[in-house]
Amino acid sequence: MQRVSANTEQTNEFLSLIKKRWSPKDFDLEKNISPENLQLLFEAARWAPSSRNEQPWNYILVKKDEPEQFEKMIDVLIESNKTWASKASVLVLTLASLRLLRSVIFRRM
Ligand SMILES: Cc1cc2nc3c(=O)[nH]c(=O)nc-3n(C[C@H](O)[C@H](O)[C@H](O)COP(=O)(O)O)c2cc1C
Repeated sequence: MQRVSANTEQTNEFLSLIKKRWSPKDFDLEKNISPENLQLLFEAARWAPSSRNEQPWNYILVKKDEPEQFEKMIDVLIESNKTWASKASVLVLTLASLRLLRSVIFRRM
């Protein structure tokens, strides 16, 4: 298979995206993340590389309009995170298996 190398324009675009990213901690209670954007986020997450391609992650997603589940998720956070996380429209808990589950045998080449 032929490798496709990124051209300068794509590289600059990618670096520019990285430079512009930040960790938001002040959310507008009136706004909700759209299902399309949520879909995009998980699409990006599932392309992450993993050891032996185990993809050992699972996600639990709760929305603000599911108050009981939302509160349970807030409860597991440390106090300093509860303040800003309570205003988010969606919370996602990432779970990762620390044991290899699928690839039992792995031979060194
Ligand atoms: C592994 C990791 C854990 C983090 N944990 C927290 C956290 O518990 N609470 C929080 O408010 N920010 C957390 N942050 C956000 C960092 O504080 C933030 O990335 C850093 O201050 C740089 O700011 P920026 O992301 O806006 O550039 C975490 C970031 C990383 C990478």
